[in-house]
Amino acid sequence: MTAMLLPAALVAAAVMLMLAVEDGGGRAEAAIGMQQPLKLKYQYYRRYTSCKYAEEFVKHQVTLYWNRDKTITAKLLRLLYSDCFVTGCDASILLDGPDSEKMAHQNARLGGFDLIDKIKTVMESRCPGVVSCADILNLATRDAVHLAGGPSYPLFTGRRDGMTSRASTVDLPSASISSKAALAYFESKTLDVLDMATLLGAHAIGTTDCSNVVDRLYNFNKTGKPDPTMSKEFADQLRKTCPPPSNMKGQQAKSPWVYLNPDSGPSYQLGNSYYKRALAYQSVLGVDQQLLYNNDTRELTSEYGDESPWKNGFEGWRRSLTLSMNRMGNINVLTGNSTGEIRRSCRYTNQRG
Ligand SMILES: *[C@@H]1O[C@H](CO)[C@@H](O)[C@H](O)[C@H]1NC(C)=O
Ligand SMILES: *[C@@H]1O[C@H](CO)[C@@H](O)[C@H](O)[C@H]1NC(C)=O
Ligand SMILES: *[C@@H]1O[C@H](CO)[C@@H](O)[C@H](O)[C@H]1NC(C)=O
Repeated sequence: MTAMLLPAALVAAAVMLMLAVEDGGGRAEAAIGMQQPLKLKYQYYRRYTSCKYAEEFVKHQVTLYWNRDKTITAKLLRLLYSDCFVTGCDASILLDGPDSEKMAHQNARLGGFDLIDKIKTVMESRCPGVVSCADILNLATRDAVHLAGGPSYPLFTGRRDGMTSRASTVDLPSASISSKAALAYFESKTLDVLDMATLLGAHAIGTTDCSNVVDRLYNFNKTGKPDPTMSKEFADQLRKTCPPPSNMKGQQAKSPWVYLNPDSGPSYQLGNSYYKRALAYQSVLGVDQQLLYNNDTRELTSEYGDESPWKNGFEGWRRSLTLSMNRMGNINVLTGNSTGEIRRSCRYTNQRG
C-alpha cells in the first residue's frame, strides 16, 4: 500500500462502515418485522430525542476536566477499548460489582470513571433517562481526543447500555502479543488491519506498568533474552526504570511505570512520534513494535510515520482514526427499545440501582 493508495483504502473502509451499519439494521429489521431499523445514527440525540444538546453537554464537561488533567484522553481511550472489545460497546466496563469486567486483572489500572459519572449526573439532571452511558463514553473519548490534538470526528450514536458484566468475559490480550495474534484478535472483533494499525496509535499517549514491559527487557517469550526487535540503547534506558521482576518481589510499593511513548511523555499530545519510534525499533510495548512484522501494518506505520514522500503522516492517521473509532464504536452495539436500557447511574443497572 503506497501513500497514493491510502485514500482509496479509506474510501473502501468508509463504504464498509456504511454497509456494516445499514446491513446490521436491515437484518435486524427483517428479523423483527415491524420495528424501526436498529442501527446507530449520526446526531441521534439532536435529531431523534428530546435531549438536543447532549453532545454539547458532554463536550463542555470533558473540556473542564481536560483543563485540569490532560491524562484523561489516554484514560478514556483505554476505557473505550476495554469496553468495546469485550462484549461490545455496551458500557459493561462501567458496571461495579465483585465479578464485573473492571475486576479482571487486565483492567486493573483503568481510570476516567469519575468523569463519566460527572457527565451522567449532568445528563440525568438535564434530560433524565435519555442518554446512554455507552454513548457518553464514546462521545467523551471523541472530545478528549480532539483536545489532545487528534481529529474531531463525527460519531454515530443511539447505543443502549448492557445489563451484565462478568470478569470471565475479558479476553484482552497481553501487551507482548505477536502481530499475527494481534491481527487475529482485531479480526475476531470485526475490525481489520487498517483499524489495528490506526487504533494502536492511541499508544501515542499514556503510561503503562513495567509489568507489561519487563518480559521484553529480560526474558522475551521465555527465551531468557531481551526482545531482539527492541533497540539495544532503548532497552538499556528502560531497564533503569523497570527492574527485573525477581527484584520486585516482596516490594508492596506501587509497581513502577513508563510512558507508552517517551516522546509525548507528560505533554499528552497526540502526534505521529509513536509511529516514528516503531520505525526506529523504540516502541515500548511489544504489540506496538510488532507493527513492523506484518506487511500491511508496516506500510501503514511508514505512512503515518512520515516515511512517504508526502510527509503528511499525522493527517493520514487523523483521517483513518475517524473511521476506525466509528468502526470500533459499532462493535456489538445494543440499539432500539427492545434491548438494553438507559442506565440512571453508569455504575449500576437500573434493576440493581
Ligand atoms: C422507543 O420508545 C420511545 C419512548 O417510549 C418512543 O417514543 C419511540 O417511538 C420508540 N421507538 C421505537 C423504535 O419503538
Ligand atoms: C512467542 O513464541 C511462540 C512459540 O514459539 C510464537 O508462536 C509467538 O509468535 C512468539 N511471540 C512473539 C511476540 O514473537
Ligand atoms: C511481505 O513482503 C515481502 C517483501 O516484499 C514478501 O517477500 C512477502 O511474501 C510478503 N508477505 C506476505 C505475507 O505477503
